[in-house]
Amino acid sequence: MSILDKHGVIERNASFLLVASLIVVCIGGLVEITPLFFFQNTIEEVDGMRPYAPLELAGRDIYIREGCYVCHSQMIRPFRDEVERYGNYSLAAESMYDHPFQWGSKRTGPDLARVGGRYSNEWQVQHLTDPRSVVPESIMPSYSFLANATLDYRTIGGKLQANATVGVPYTQEMIDNAAADLMAQATPDADTTAIAERYPKAVFGDFDGDATRITEMDALIAYLQMLGTLVDFDSYDTQANFR
Ligand code: HEC
Repeated sequence: MSILDKHGVIERNASFLLVASLIVVCIGGLVEITPLFFFQNTIEEVDGMRPYAPLELAGRDIYIREGCYVCHSQMIRPFRDEVERYGNYSLAAESMYDHPFQWGSKRTGPDLARVGGRYSNEWQVQHLTDPRSVVPESIMPSYSFLANATLDYRTIGGKLQANATVGVPYTQEMIDNAAADLMAQATPDADTTAIAERYPKAVFGDFDGDATRITEMDALIAYLQMLGTLVDFDSYDTQANFR
């Protein structure tokens, strides 16, 4: 009797087949799930990652509200062409404070995972206001209204609190100072010592060119300008996967 004939015994008996399949599925499941109970964290930690500063978080909400993710991804895949165009491929840890993550599923426009610092604030304002004035062939819609919309940040503390509830390490101090930190980040000449300590590498200033008030444009550009800038890739062997 060959092994295939023995298998025939199982195949001809439906109840036996069902029980045998269940046993096999259980073993497979255990092999996949059991190790997860022994890991503290399934995401490899990287230096530099921190929760979003309040202004950046507000900008991120506008990014989601306006559906930017419909045309833009935020996930650089480990392929040579993507890495040469956008920079180091995205690490899991870089999205670990994203609720929900913004990997996206379509690239009508370029990937934005590392767009931070690539353009000046003025370019960003100009581009969001009238994309075709800087990129003539662009099909991106205009978001000029963001510069006229005063940012409503009355609930910013609650937003930090909500993120903390799902595991983002916002401290009580960060939550208590959320509104003040948001204002300080968007106000030129504000005292930024405390917020720079709480949110290393945060960029400060007047983002939209209108220093008299904080607009949705300010928040969105603060968010764009920090994307992909937190991890220092000089300290990682970025080319290891391509050798
Ligand atoms: C209908 C699709 C579409 C939507 C929606 C869209 N974009 Fe774009 N975006 C594009 C295209 C196409 C380009 C490339 C041409 C250009 O630079 O305008 C682009 C370019 C960009 C760039 C420059 C990226 C680079 O590396 O050169 C930024 C930044 C950007 N978009 C931000 C946004 C933000 C923020 C939103 C939401 C408020 C948004 N986009 C919504 C299509 C879109």
